[in-house]
Amino acid sequence: MGQICLSGIVKSYGKEVVVKNLDLTVNPGEFLTILGPSGCGKTTTLRMIAGLEEPDEGDIKLGDRTVFSRNEGVILPPEMRGLGLIFQSYALWPHMNVAKNITLALKEQKLSKDEIEARLQNALELVQLTGYAQRYPSELSGGQQQRVAVARLIALRPSYLLMDEPLSNLDATLRTEMRASLKRLHRDLDATTVYVTHDQIEALTLSDRIIIMNEGRIMQEGTPYDIYHHPANLFVAEFIGDPGINLFEGHVVKGVLECADVKIPVPAALKDYEGKLVAACRPEKIQMSYKAKKGWQEVKTEILQPTGADTILEVKAGDTSITLLQSGFITLDEGTPLWINFDLDALSFFDPDTQNNLRVGKE
Ligand SMILES: Nc1ncnc2c1ncn2[C@@H]1O[C@H](COP(=O)(O)OP(=O)(O)OP(=O)(O)O)[C@@H](O)[C@H]1O
Ligand SMILES: [Mg+2]
Repeated sequence: MGQICLSGIVKSYGKEVVVKNLDLTVNPGEFLTILGPSGCGKTTTLRMIAGLEEPDEGDIKLGDRTVFSRNEGVILPPEMRGLGLIFQSYALWPHMNVAKNITLALKEQKLSKDEIEARLQNALELVQLTGYAQRYPSELSGGQQQRVAVARLIALRPSYLLMDEPLSNLDATLRTEMRASLKRLHRDLDATTVYVTHDQIEALTLSDRIIIMNEGRIMQEGTPYDIYHHPANLFVAEFIGDPGINLFEGHVVKGVLECADVKIPVPAALKDYEGKLVAACRPEKIQMSYKAKKGWQEVKTEILQPTGADTILEVKAGDTSITLLQSGFITLDEGTPLWINFDLDALSFFDPDTQNNLRVGKE
């Protein structure tokens, strides 16, 4: 187990630069997720670590070993890098049964028969597939096939684990189950892990640390808590959170931010702010009341989406739409008046020109 270190990595396809001078260190045993929209360069980055793609510039180190260096002319092939890979298509060999699929790489490592058998049984047990060793992939469900792919890694015990959207072709329930399996896998292997996804729930639930990427650049890196609560810029604020964060753009007038009919309190540091300002508030952080309260703003109910445990409410203050998230299964008629309040602690403020978080009031 060691760290994964990328420095000055650049990658282009033709004229398009898809990874732009990337510096990234994954600490030993850490679970790091690269999260970003489609086409931002996530898979390309992972494939460069794996050795399946060659960077134009930069260095990649796994532990103490340089596996790629443009300047030193080092290019280690994938099989020499000692990595465990799970990609979107989990690529089991269709003509081999589960046991063969799991033990193939172990046989190549020339481990003893007893050791191989012990690792096989242990891996099957961990993914809850004991008794499935003789089945062929075609006799398994999609989720079970994915678990075989996980078992293969458990048996191999790699020090570095690279995963690219491994859960993308599973249904919602299986996904939740598999997230737990992957977390367990990481805990058991203690491998330095890079996980790629465009699914923010996977990123938030699995990671020690998240890198948010956009157009080949890092927009923010931080713990899931930080990324969610202290987005560094408007891109991250809007990318993370479902339902999405509320943004209110306006000017500070007499100590409050006026955005059409919505009035937002601002911290002391921004009372005399000139120029445009964007206030952001997560839907679950806006307080709501069914009765009028002093100082709270009246809004009208527009659309309700009860999801079971929670309800997403679209409300309107004049022409401005605001999204609220409340726990419980709420049903209300359209037009029902509600009262909302913004807590200063729950607000972030951004400069619309630089797009950056002004980091006042909260931190
Ligand atoms: N072999 C290739 N040849 C040319 N362009 C490529 C190649 N592979 C990737 N690209 C381009 O590089 C960019 C980054 O691709 P990449 O696959 O890394 O995106 P991604 O972040 O993994 O997206 P997704 O979430 O859709 O998987 C995209 O614009 C893509 O079209
Ligand atoms: Mg991809």
